[in-house]
Amino acid sequence: MSRGLFITLEGPEGAGKSTNRDYLAEGLRAAGREVVLTREPGGTPLAERIRELLLAPASEPMAVDTELLLVFAARAQHLAGVIRPALVRGAVVLCDRFTDASYAYQGAGRGVPEARIAILEHFVQGDLRPDLTLLFDLPVEVGLARAAARGRPDRFEQEDRAFFEAVRQAYLRRAANDSARYRVVDAGRPLAEVQRTLDGLLPQLLESRGG
Ligand SMILES: Nc1ncnc2c1ncn2[C@@H]1O[C@H](COP(=O)(O)OP(=O)(O)OP(=O)(O)O)[C@@H](O)[C@H]1O
Ligand SMILES: [Mg+2]
Repeated sequence: MSRGLFITLEGPEGAGKSTNRDYLAEGLRAAGREVVLTREPGGTPLAERIRELLLAPASEPMAVDTELLLVFAARAQHLAGVIRPALVRGAVVLCDRFTDASYAYQGAGRGVPEARIAILEHFVQGDLRPDLTLLFDLPVEVGLARAAARGRPDRFEQEDRAFFEAVRQAYLRRAANDSARYRVVDAGRPLAEVQRTLDGLLPQLLESRGG
């Protein structure tokens, strides 16, 4: 298929994924690119309903496999309804979280073996992988403090420190194992500095596919 550019933004709570996704979109649009801003879990009306199921604190504990399958069910819908069509049009897709988050949260956080996640990754995505993943990395407490300022914690934000430390380390391991796909951004710095780093990436993004 003709192909746009698929960029995912990853990192723990409060790392600045959403803020910087919007910032990158401005830069890409200013250069004339079609940019599709989206997020996971969610990104289509049905997938957003699955997101609500995943994030809402509930009295019935969610089985780990249920959580994993819901994440990938939402992803299948998102790929079919938004991501694949946008890439076929040649757009740049900026997606706030994607399958790396499944490895980090359901894998390292909840303890699902990586091999099981890999089966679903292949089942739902075939060969489709992000062209670039920006990993916004920062100390767990800094991110949680930023996220807490936003209000009531969701089902994930209620986890303990060890959970988020495992998530962070899993992201860093994945990035270290595939330096061609990942850029690790030190997200603990002031926002203006983080955004200067992103400015530096823009020329490279504009040269690649997606236009
Ligand atoms: N580098 C930064 N320094 C200080 N504050 C920041 C920085 N980046 C983002 N913030 C602020 O931290 C809060 C969380 O940022 P944002 O919502 O972009 O994070 P996120 O990674 O999308 O979090 P979540 O995973 O919870 O959605 C926001 O209030 C944002 O303005
Ligand atoms: Mg966000």
